[in-house]
Amino acid sequence: MDSIKRNEIDIVKIGASKINEVDFENLAFGNIFTDHMLVCDFKDGNWQKPTIKPYEPFLIDPSAKVFHYGQAIFEGMKAYKDEDDAVWLFRPDENFKRFNASAKRMAMPEVPEDIFLGGLNEILKIEKEWVKKGKGNSLYIRPFMIAVGTGVVAAPSSHYRFMIILSPAKSYYSGEVKVVIAEHFSRAANGGIGAAKAAGNYAAQFYPTKLANEEGFQQIIWTDDATHTKLEEAGTMNVFFRINDTLFTAPTSERILDGVTRKSLIAIAERDGIDIKVQSVLVSELLEAAKNGSLKEIFGAGTAAVVNPIVGFSYKDDYFELPKIENSMASQLKDNLTNIQYKLAEDTFGWTV
Ligand code: COI
Repeated sequence: MDSIKRNEIDIVKIGASKINEVDFENLAFGNIFTDHMLVCDFKDGNWQKPTIKPYEPFLIDPSAKVFHYGQAIFEGMKAYKDEDDAVWLFRPDENFKRFNASAKRMAMPEVPEDIFLGGLNEILKIEKEWVKKGKGNSLYIRPFMIAVGTGVVAAPSSHYRFMIILSPAKSYYSGEVKVVIAEHFSRAANGGIGAAKAAGNYAAQFYPTKLANEEGFQQIIWTDDATHTKLEEAGTMNVFFRINDTLFTAPTSERILDGVTRKSLIAIAERDGIDIKVQSVLVSELLEAAKNGSLKEIFGAGTAAVVNPIVGFSYKDDYFELPKIENSMASQLKDNLTNIQYKLAEDTFGWTV
């Protein structure tokens, strides 16, 4: 990982840590943050010196472009601790590359590697006590960038703030996940920003997801905007469908996020001889498979959600329950992935850093 030199980063440490106030056994996802945050501004055409300082609110001008035009991007990553107390990241270069691809799409400056990855390395050294051992425990990492430049002219800002905040995490979903297949609303369209991790992509899902929540569903599986016939991804994760013994997941596109967990599961499945096809499943094929019993599993995959089985789905007025399966592909793949992340199995891919 590209390191940052000590004299290229200012570090201001907190007086007393709040770590002893945290109940690490009962964590709701993304509610508690560690003692420090990394902040680095881009202004006058240059990245400034990054600072690691106590986690605290900060002031932004009410006319900042992030408030008016949503110029904001983020990433989701995790740090894991092995049995020997070493802290590991999983494919951080992939998040770094995707962050800068999102920045480009949103007309924001790309963040240099020594600030993104080097700065992350430094803040993790300071916060290593917040990464707890044991499968299922992790420190969720949220790098993000916002346009803090002032003025409501609808044009890119000239002043940005890149930050990294950290949150101890267990699982994202606390119960069973049932989904609605989208009939009308869309997550993204060709030519749009679906492939970027832009904040607005998530905000745009809140209303349709709220309607789904009111009906007792946790998430939506989005269909393509043009025809609503192809299954694409879910709100917080990519999706996989197992029909008989073949696993399907949609190819990435301008509409679908190139998920790091998604691509890692594809590689693990290929290595393990699972018949996996990177191919869209049609809504009609899903319904047919659910009716004739060949639909065995649906699961979501993402950094926050890891691998999350979906227990049922609704489409129009019908609800379909998935069968309960012993030794599911979801649980095999989850085990193989998390064994690599927690250093419980050899990382033959060279993914852990
Ligand atoms: C992640 O999985 O890290 C994400 O960024 C999804 C987010 C909505 C929690």
